[in-house]
Order: sequence, then C-alpha cells, then structure tokens
Amino acid sequence: MIEIKNASFKYPNGFTALENINLTIKEGEKVAIVGQNGAGKTTCVKMMNGLNRPFEGDVIIDGINTKEVTVATVARIVGYVFQNPDEQIFNSTARKEIEFMPRYYKLSEKEVKERVDYAVEICDIAKYMDTNPYEIPYPIRKFVAIAAVIASRPKYIVLDEPTAGQDLHGTEVLGNMVDRLTKDGITVITITHDMEFAVRNFDRVIAMAHKNIICDGTAQDVFWNEKVVTDAKIKKPAIGELAKRLEMDGKILFCDELVKRL
Ligand SMILES: Nc1ncnc2c1ncn2[C@@H]1O[C@H](COP(=O)(O)OP(=O)(O)OP(=O)(O)O)[C@@H](O)[C@H]1O
Ligand SMILES: [Mg+2]
Repeated sequence: MIEIKNASFKYPNGFTALENINLTIKEGEKVAIVGQNGAGKTTCVKMMNGLNRPFEGDVIIDGINTKEVTVATVARIVGYVFQNPDEQIFNSTARKEIEFMPRYYKLSEKEVKERVDYAVEICDIAKYMDTNPYEIPYPIRKFVAIAAVIASRPKYIVLDEPTAGQDLHGTEVLGNMVDRLTKDGITVITITHDMEFAVRNFDRVIAMAHKNIICDGTAQDVFWNEKVVTDAKIKKPAIGELAKRLEMDGKILFCDELVKRL
C-alpha cells in the first residue's frame, strides 16, 4: 500500500508545490492522476518513490517511511518512469538500458532474459533493441524508458504522462500494458492529459489543482463534477460532453452507453 499522510512539499527555491496531501493506493488498483500543467502531479508521484521527500507529513510504502531509507530502497518497490525519457535513459542501446537493473540486481542470465523479453513484448519494441535510444523516435523512446522500469520488476509502477505524443497504436499498447501489468500483480499509477485514456483504462481517477487533490473517485465522479472539471482545468471526454449537451442523465462517458441511450 502507498500511503501519503498530511504531506507537503517545498522545492529548494522555497516554492511550495503540495500542501497537506492525503492519499492511499492499495495493491491492484489502477489509478490515473489528471489536472492542469503545474498542478503538482509529477511532484506528488515523485514522493511515491522517494525522489521527493515531504517536508511535512509522511509517505509510507508497504510500511516503510521514505524518510528513513534511501531512494534506491524505495525504487525497488515503486518504479517511476520519467515524464521526459531523456532524463532517465543513459545506455548506448535499448537492450543495455532494459537489462541494466536486472544485471544490477545480479540476476541469472535466464532471469535477465525473462524479464527483458517480458518488458519488450509488453512495450512492443523488439525491433529497436540494438538501436541507440537517441536514434529512436521520441514516442517509442518513451517505451524504452517504460520497459527499463518494467524489467526492474517493481510492485508499483508510476508512469508520468506516457500518452503524451503517442499515436493510436502507442495509446493502444499503453492500454493493453495497464491491463497486463495489473493482471500480473503490478499496481499501475499514471499521470495523463489524455482524458479518454483515463476513462477507458483506469478504475480510479484523481484530479489535482491548487496544490492538492480536489477529487478522488471514479471517472464519473471526476468528469461529471463541473466544479472539478473547471478547477482542475481538464477536458470532459467527448462522449461525456455530447451526453451533457443532449441533456442525458446517467453520467455517460462511454460510446456504447451513449449509442444505447440514443
Ligand atoms: N525543481 C523545481 N523548482 C521549483 N519549482 C518547481 C520545480 N519543479 C516543479 N516546480 C513547480 O512546482 C509546481 C508543480 O510542478 P509539477 O511538475 O509537479 O506539475 P505537473 O502537474 O506535473 O505539471 P505538468 O502537467 O506540466 O507536467 C509548478 O508550479 C512547477 O513550476
Ligand atoms: Mg508533470
């Protein structure tokens, strides 16, 4: 379980980015975090793997307080995929990047291969394995960064805007990835500006604004709450907007529901 308790975060320049956050994520949940640029989403998820430590309050991962252990200890449990893959990738081929953590953990060749094959299949990047990551197109390079974290086999994986810049295929790969990882016992938390992706793939949606969480519930709870949509400056998914304009009740967000009602 990830527990954030009364946590506030201040950057070294004195700017307070989060004020008194409370959040619990249980194993097996699929959680999407939404909200306008600068809302504090990245700052918040970086607290989950110890990269950011709260200056007030606590972050507790499976009973371990992130203040009392190293980032490396927390990162074994919570894997964070950077918003910008270039802040993460440092090896000369995709293969080396993805093998890095399994080798660092001194796993056997068989285990390294199993983990790499698993990550590469999920991320659909087999044909790029011997390429320099910086020669791989940016949206696919993001999958190399994701695969590297999957291969480290964390219990929780945090994806920071994986949908940014992805085409339809990339978004589908991500949707399937969420289901597969969840099925295999890995809890998935994602930040996204793609509201359709959040609605389609996540059971729980958290909206952030004003340095805090302003709504935490189902996609219906978030996207059919006009105050939340306005305050978090998020876009209601097109199907929801259409249902609203047609004055339908029932908090519709899915195409099938809308077609049935029509
Ligand atoms: N290193 C830093 N030093 C000072 N302020 C920072 C730093 N990093 C982020 N901030 C500020 O903290 C606030 C929250 O930033 P954060 O990156 O968490 O937002 P976000 O919700 O992830 O936004 P985006 O959707 O653009 O990624 C913003 O006002 C940002 O300018
Ligand atoms: Mg961010």
